[in-house]
Amino acid sequence: MENINYIEKTENKTAIIEINRPKQLNALNIGIINEIEKKLNSLQTNNSIRSVIITGAGDKAFVAGADIKEFQGFSAKDANRLSQQGKKKLFNKVAHFNKPVIAAINGYALGGGLELALSCHIRLMSKTARLGLPECSLGLIPGYSGTQRLPRIIGKNLAMEMILTSKMIDAEEAYRIGLVNDVLDPDSLMLKSLDLANKFNRVSPEAVTSAIKSINACYLENGEQIETQEFSQLFETNNFKEGVDAFLNKRKPNFN
Ligand code: CAA
Repeated sequence: MENINYIEKTENKTAIIEINRPKQLNALNIGIINEIEKKLNSLQTNNSIRSVIITGAGDKAFVAGADIKEFQGFSAKDANRLSQQGKKKLFNKVAHFNKPVIAAINGYALGGGLELALSCHIRLMSKTARLGLPECSLGLIPGYSGTQRLPRIIGKNLAMEMILTSKMIDAEEAYRIGLVNDVLDPDSLMLKSLDLANKFNRVSPEAVTSAIKSINACYLENGEQIETQEFSQLFETNNFKEGVDAFLNKRKPNFN
């Protein structure tokens, strides 16, 4: 893989995808999107991996946005395709992934970079990182669902302010407004991400998949039905039987 590093922590059942274009601050080009898509496709059915961490190489950037040089000369038609393909191949794939995806935000997460972090199920952030959706300052708007996901996470009023001003915020503010789950020293970011993944990896994987699907449906009209459907089908799994049996026999469950 040219643009991403892939590390499997088999003892943790966790995969780390590190976007690796540090000289360009890990700006997302089509090559990176295709490589992550391919990796996620194979991880989806890999039972030895239960969680995924996405991070950026180097200490400066998570992802400093979509690659501006790549889309510089685009027509409206090209841009439409970029946005649709990016959503299909990467951003929606991450958001609806069947295993938890953690964004370990090690530096700048701007534009498409913050949109990638917003697609992840959980965001952990280094104290030194900065977040923003600066597209309006380029004469654009976010094109990878930032206008949809940011308001759902921090509320419409704060999302309006962030997007219309193009401002960057620091870790303290990001935590205060609920944009990230935790803020960590740069040195402990990956360790804490793995710790959190470990916690996800200890419970039933089918239950985790159903929980992600149901929580993602919370803004849909049929969210209630999706929850009931996911809830009821879990009763047929061995891991449900194991979980209840372990509880009743006062022992630790052994999920597989
Ligand atoms: N696209 C392409 N290249 C980028 C990039 C991006 N989004 N961000 C940084 N780079 C490149 C720079 O061009 C520079 O390359 P060269 O060395 O070849 O000149 C290199 O990375 C280092 O960047 P800087 O010299 O600018 O580093 P800095 O420390 O002075 O500034 C920064 C850091 C504030 C993050 C600044 O790089 C910056 O503002 N980057 C752009 C951020 C941005 O606007 N992102 C949104 C992109 S649009 C988008 O994402 C649309 C969408 O939703 C689909």
